[in-house]
Amino acid sequence: MTYDLLNPLVPLPQGIFQIPAAPNLENRSDSDWIQLSLVIPTYNEAKNIQELIKVLSDLLDGVIPGDYELIVVDDDSPDYTWKLAQELTVEYPQLQVMRREKEKGLATAVVRGWQMARGEILGVIDADLQHPPKVLAQLWQKIQQGADLAVASRHINGGGVSEWNLGRRILSRGAQMLGLMVLPEVLGKLSDPMSGYFLLRRSSIIERAMNPIGYKILIEVVARGRIHSSAEVGYVFQERQEGESKVIWKQYLEYIGHLLRLRLFLWAKGRFIRFVLVGLTGVLVDMGIFYLLSDPSTLGWSLTRSKIIAAELAMINNFFWNDLWTFRDISRQQTGMSPRFKRLLKFNVICLGGLILNVLFLNFVFHVLGLNRYLANLIAIAAVTFWNFWFNCKFSWRVTDKGK
Ligand code: GDD
Ligand code: MN
Repeated sequence: MTYDLLNPLVPLPQGIFQIPAAPNLENRSDSDWIQLSLVIPTYNEAKNIQELIKVLSDLLDGVIPGDYELIVVDDDSPDYTWKLAQELTVEYPQLQVMRREKEKGLATAVVRGWQMARGEILGVIDADLQHPPKVLAQLWQKIQQGADLAVASRHINGGGVSEWNLGRRILSRGAQMLGLMVLPEVLGKLSDPMSGYFLLRRSSIIERAMNPIGYKILIEVVARGRIHSSAEVGYVFQERQEGESKVIWKQYLEYIGHLLRLRLFLWAKGRFIRFVLVGLTGVLVDMGIFYLLSDPSTLGWSLTRSKIIAAELAMINNFFWNDLWTFRDISRQQTGMSPRFKRLLKFNVICLGGLILNVLFLNFVFHVLGLNRYLANLIAIAAVTFWNFWFNCKFSWRVTDKGK
């Protein structure tokens, strides 16, 4: 093997997982921008990698000849996938190889590969030929038609999985359902958010600090990126011919951790914080009215009657600020008294459910746990805030079709 013809291994990016606006070209043999950088995460794929690189190169030489790169990111495979891949660079000069010896994991491998990518479009495909390379041409076309993200989906027409057993199907769909409950605004955008086969515009993800874990790189991209338009292409997930899947129970635990991490990130980033701050003004209104009506030193009304009136006035306060601030992006698409009144009604109905919970909580904490009435009220309000936020998001603060 004439080793001086090999492409040198791609330098390992260190530190945070953030894709730079411009390619990181220092001590790189190749120079400037290209159209596509397709990352191929590998672990023990020595039996698949040569076939995959050949098929991908033949396909891309017909679509964007000389204007793409394939970046294998290997986690120091015991079967020396990285070494085999590097030897292939003599025949396929557009192939780059990164060998990671300290970090591990599919999702982080993809981001590290994108950090060293020179492409205006980034992508990921598995090395084991379970993602049919021919679908790449259709994904590329969707991007050329203006999509920020083009995803190969098993769950639209033309999609499917080959001979998956019932257990694997249930696990995959179950994972998707769990994701829809925890991150409806992320997983609800795609028919196959578990897909590991997609292309995306570099501009959609640059300078966004990412924190991937496990296998599901797509939910990380959708949650943290700036995806304004996405498209899907149906494909059938193939049977693996060589090697075996690396998915074990650990990936499922990492997936749950990933969902929770992104949930907190999205709450902290936007609406939830605004909703909570508005809720705090509501707490002041609720507690103030509750004191005036129920305290023995003032009107001394019953706990439940005082609570209902105080909560209703707090709800009107909260609706006013949520409509003006928390959900302003939606409410300002639906101006006028009638849509606003409908939103107030909808908000009230949702919060009414919360109020019932609130009153039950309050009586339980006050009468059964014997806590001070005001502490009991605070605990009840905090518990119901999550309920109110989730339902108001789910029913999307929308009363008309405008702006959908
Ligand atoms: N670098 C690196 N490090 N690569 C890895 C690792 C790792 O720790 N684990 C797996 N890979 C590579 C494999 O070598 C393969 O190329 C690809 O990631 C997918 O791994 P599989 O173990 O074959 O996953 P799967 O077939 O069960 O599921 C794949 O397809 C699903 C549908 O698109 C994965 O991509 C899933 O994320 C995806 O949902
Ligand atoms: Mn696979």
